[in-house]
This record gives sequence, structure tokens and C-alpha cells, in this order.
Amino acid sequence: MADTLRHLLELALDPAAAPAAIAGAPLPHSMRAAVVRRADAEMFRDRPSEEKDPRESLHVEEVPIPPLGPNEVLIAPMASALNFNTVWTSIFEPVPTHRFLERFAAESAAGARHDLDHHVVGSDAAGVVVRVGPGVTRWRPGDRVTVHCNYVDVEGPHGHDDSMIDDRQRIWGFETNFGALAELSMVKANQLMPMPTHLSWEEAACLSLTLATSYRMLVGRNAARMKQGDIVLVWGATGGLGGFAVQLVRNGGGIPVCVVSSEEKVALLRSLGVDLVIDRAAEGYEFWADGEQQPSEWRRFGSRIRELTGGEDPDIVFEHPGRQTFGASVFVVRRGGTVVTCASTSGYMHSYDNRYLWMNLKRVVGSHFANYREAWEANRLVDRGMIHPILTRTYALDAVADAAWAMHTNAHTGKLGVLVNASEEGQGVRDPDKRARFSDDLRAWSRLR
Ligand SMILES: NC(=O)c1ccc[n+]([C@@H]2O[C@H](COP(=O)([O-])OP(=O)(O)OC[C@H]3O[C@@H](n4cnc5c(N)ncnc54)[C@H](OP(=O)(O)O)[C@@H]3O)[C@@H](O)[C@H]2O)c1
Repeated sequence: MADTLRHLLELALDPAAAPAAIAGAPLPHSMRAAVVRRADAEMFRDRPSEEKDPRESLHVEEVPIPPLGPNEVLIAPMASALNFNTVWTSIFEPVPTHRFLERFAAESAAGARHDLDHHVVGSDAAGVVVRVGPGVTRWRPGDRVTVHCNYVDVEGPHGHDDSMIDDRQRIWGFETNFGALAELSMVKANQLMPMPTHLSWEEAACLSLTLATSYRMLVGRNAARMKQGDIVLVWGATGGLGGFAVQLVRNGGGIPVCVVSSEEKVALLRSLGVDLVIDRAAEGYEFWADGEQQPSEWRRFGSRIRELTGGEDPDIVFEHPGRQTFGASVFVVRRGGTVVTCASTSGYMHSYDNRYLWMNLKRVVGSHFANYREAWEANRLVDRGMIHPILTRTYALDAVADAAWAMHTNAHTGKLGVLVNASEEGQGVRDPDKRARFSDDLRAWSRLR
């Protein structure tokens, strides 16, 4: 780390330092960041998706410091986390993300700053504010923050009920440049939230993207709106989205039916008090095989769910695997129930039997990340110890491509953290007494290894 950056961080993390002193400390001329390069966009053209390797395309290198504009904030991420969008960016699927930056540039001069040959990725961070731009009134240098990834101005009319509906809404560090996997990162002031005081940097950094997405899908007023007693089928129940979905369902008085793919994951969920678990690998489901849906497999799966629930079908299916599971999800959800979907990991061209949807008055609801309020409410649940991080492993910034490969090959569980400016795990906790009160839960969820 350069001396200028070290000095800036020492000052920003000193609770006695005045915001003006932090704002006056010099910035370094460049920074280390995880990037994909525009010139590499075609490098995997002839390979199947599963062989496209982020370790060849995701580089940690020295890049210029992002320029700060109105209502923007420069933060120093102490830690970040890996999300699947960084896997998509680094395998250039479904499109190279430089296309998003080019589209942003065509929109405005502010957007044009983002269209560079390198794309700094990363959509989750916990860190400290080091500069605020003109017009920022709620945040000051020295504030310790977590960052959600909904990047939007709401200058147009459509986003005023729900900023996710705004036609210029973007995901920070995926559809914008200057993401979280860098020594300094540029965000909008309306992305900031107070960092939970009992968590370390890496624990706080692994929350927002997947937790707030799950919160909107299940709890917020914009998607499935789970109620007490609802049976919720959760695909990938120890993954980034699923691990938070299970906690939200239990907090809200719902009944999770969890699907995972190994004995270890089943045992882990059982140890957390989750009884209704299906091991999709051991039970050998093939809902979509040889390019075709397999309705007999949907029926076998539906029977298994009824066996676990005492004959009931799920009120809600929490869907993200996509093509391989979507037909089964539509089939098993109860009459009048909701399939809520935010992704298509196994392929985005879905097919399902529409007769089951219309005749049984089922709904499919699309959901995407979360608006500021939903992200804030999810962050508040963490701060109150009602939701816990599911961090299973932490990587150094230099090894971020290894983390992306682990996620791409489904070799991970829970969330993967990345230390950016923090020198080791465990730093950043401000309220050890509060942490002690939640220590059993924190240990239980971080056992997701
Ligand atoms: N729209 C949004 O705002 C948003 C936000 C977050 C994530 N996403 C997307 O959601 C997807 C999941 O993200 P994540 O962070 O939860 O990833 P993750 O940590 O990899 O977890 C996903 C889990 O899904 C299960 N899974 C994977 N492929 C499957 C398949 N073919 N059939 C059944 N289960 C499968 C796996 O669990 P088992 O192997 O144990 O079953 C895996 O652990 C990604 O595509 C991501 O891009 C979208």
C-alpha cells in the first residue's frame, strides 16, 4: 500500500480526526483494483461457459483514482465480497460489461467518466468515507459505512415510487465503473448505510447485495410479500441469496423448505434448526435434461415436498437457478402461489408448462436487487442482530480471481469475503459487548464452510 493511502486511512479511521482534516489529506495518484479489460471481451469466445476461467480475465492492477462529482462519495473499502455478477463480468456473459459502460457514456458527461478500457468491478463494500462531493449533506469523511449497489439518481418520474423502476437504474460495479474491489471506490451518497457496529469489515461487506435482494423478493412490498405460516421453497439454501432467504423466512414466521446439493450442507442446515431439507444431488433430480423439461421429475420433486410438509405445496418458490429448475418451480408452487425470480444461473431461456400457471392462478414475479429503503431495512435487521452474515472464507484482493473461480464452479458455500484495505480478518468491530451478545449466532452462520 502506498504511503499516501496509508496516511489517509490512518486519519479516516481515527475516531478523533476531524472530517475536514480527513478531507484535506492528499489522495494517492493511483490505486490497486480488480479489473476486466475491454480488449479481452472475446477471449473466451469458443469455450463453453463452465470452462471460461476468471483467473485468466480478472486482473489486479494499478489504475487512476476515480473523479468525484456532485452527490458522490469516495470511500476506502476495507473489505468487499464476491458476488455472482463479478463471475458474469469476468466470463463476459451474457454480454461484456463494457457495453454497459458505453451505454452509460452515451447518456451523460457524468456517465462518460465510467467508459474506460478497464472496468473496476465489485458490488459490496464496508469501508470509510474519505471525501464527499458537492451536495452531500448526510455523510462526512470518517463515517464507517456499508454500501448497497443500487446506483440511481431518480431524476426522472418513474422511479419515485420505487427507485428500482427508474429507467436509469444501474448496479454499481457491474453496470458502472469504480466498483468495490479497489483501494478507493466512487459511490453515490444514496448508496451509503451505517456499518453494523458489532461486525468486522469482511462480515459487514458480505451482506448487502444478496441480503437486500432476498429481502425485496420475500419481505418488501414489491415482490412475494411473505406472511406468517407461508411455506417457502428456497433453492440454493446455503448460497449467497439462499442463506439470507432462510434467515428471513424464519424471522417472518414462514416455513423454509431448503434445497441444497451435499450432505454437508444438509447437516449444516439441520444444525441451524432447519428441518425440511432436500439434497438434490443425493436424490438425483434432473428437471431439465437433453434440452427438454422432464415433467415426471417435477412430480417426483412435488411429492417429496409434500412428504416433508405434511401434504402442503409451497406458497412461494424463491427462484434463481433458472432454466434447470424453473419448470419444476412453476409446477410445485401451490394454487394461487408465487414464484419469485431474480436470476437464471443455469440459463435464461426458460420453459415451463403454462397450463399449471393459468389454471391454478399462479404468479411469476420478477425481482431485481432492492431500492434504498429495502436495503436500509435489511441492513437494520443485521445491526439489530436479527440477521447474521454467512461469511465462510476470506481472500486477499490479489486472490480475488480464485474466489470468482470457486463461485463459478459452485465450490463455495455462503459468502466469500475479500480483504481490500484491511490487513487481516477481524478488524473494524466497534461494539465488542454487542458482538458477544450475538456470538452463538455469528458462529453458527459462519460455520457455513
Ligand atoms: N437480480 C439480482 O438482483 C440478483 C442479486 C443477487 C444474485 N443474483 C443472481 O442469483 C444467482 C445466485 O446468486 P448467489 O449469490 O446466491 O449465488 P451462489 O452463492 O452461488 O448460490 C447459488 C446456489 O444455487 C444453487 N444452484 C446453482 N445452480 C443450480 C442448479 N442448476 N439447480 C439448482 N440449484 C442450483 C447452488 O446450491 P446447491 O448446489 O447447494 O443446490 C448454489 O449454492 C446468480 O445468478 C446471481 O447472478 C441476482
